[in-house]
Amino acid sequence: MEKPIYASLKSIGAYAPERIVTNYDLEKIVDTNDEWIVKRTGIKERRFAQDNEATSDLATKAAKIALDRAKVTPKEVDMVIVATISPDFFCMPSTACVVANNLGIIGKPAFDISAACSGFVYLLFLAKSFILAKACKNILIIGAEKISSILDMQDRNTCVLFGDGAGAALVGVTENKEKSIIEVQVSSNGEYQDFLITPGCGSRYPTSKEVLEKRLQFLKMKGNETFKIAVKTLINDVVEILEKNHLNINDIDFFVPHQANKRIITAVGEALNIAPEKVVLTVQKYGNTSAASIPMAINELYEEGRIQNGSRLLLDAFGGGLTWGSAILTFNGN
Ligand code: ACO
Repeated sequence: MEKPIYASLKSIGAYAPERIVTNYDLEKIVDTNDEWIVKRTGIKERRFAQDNEATSDLATKAAKIALDRAKVTPKEVDMVIVATISPDFFCMPSTACVVANNLGIIGKPAFDISAACSGFVYLLFLAKSFILAKACKNILIIGAEKISSILDMQDRNTCVLFGDGAGAALVGVTENKEKSIIEVQVSSNGEYQDFLITPGCGSRYPTSKEVLEKRLQFLKMKGNETFKIAVKTLINDVVEILEKNHLNINDIDFFVPHQANKRIITAVGEALNIAPEKVVLTVQKYGNTSAASIPMAINELYEEGRIQNGSRLLLDAFGGGLTWGSAILTFNGN
């Protein structure tokens, strides 16, 4: 009889652009201050890509690291999926096609998904499904954002919160259930579509002088309303995924939440009784990098030597759409 197969996270990689933008730098651009930003968000600095760097450039750098660490060559990759809300090009070609070409992956499916800050958990959901369906053996997933390209640098409510970056992972096959992606659950509720939105330049409000004058091409957020729903949803989602898998928080080595706001992360961690040393925090260094935030945070754990093959991770994300999702997996990289 054929042995059952499972999907498995075989490597992680990330890239953060070199340019560091501190809160003090932003004080010179909008009416804000370091004290407000640190107190309300925990963010001290973030990275902004250079003008000549696009999302695909960040994604390609992260992907090369993930492939090297997985010891998988571009020829062995069966599919490339990029999650982004700041693609290289409006509509087409997809950022995934550009990245695949940069890596020399030709003749394989490559496409983008849009799930805002939940992008990486959605990618895991897709990759796991394709592996279990035996459609692919090696899937390169990348969360990447040059979110500075859609930030309104005149809007202090949003421009201080976000940063650029990319995180990539290779999802492959294992026969060892203990080393697999145990569960991924993802959800959405479009009722709150206006909480996080780039209103202009789509088919609803096509590009026009008026759209640009109203600055509708940029990201808008109802921060306070989003905050309240985020905390509640993230807590419920973790409780549900743990219960579904007959696990409790002591079975988890690290909690890797989406890095939007330190206050959200602390509130969720405390409500779930997670020991602070298990809660991964990178928002102070990178701000909110949307789809890149969770893989960048896992990469940080990996590069600090805090996770090894066999470490069990709990991921939890929330973002525009609204979308949200969580995952429990055993890291199977080396
Ligand atoms: N500097 C100084 N003051 C500011 C700034 C700033 N950068 N931004 C806002 N303020 C002011 C506001 O104008 C307001 O002033 P007022 O009371 O005089 O009107 C005051 O600070 C409080 O504003 P709030 O929006 O109520 O502040 P809040 O404590 O809610 O913090 C924040 C705002 C940080 C945006 C928070 O609400 C948040 O983190 N929201 C959730 C973000 C999130 O999780 N998003 C989902 C993922 S993102 C994605 O999917 C792309």
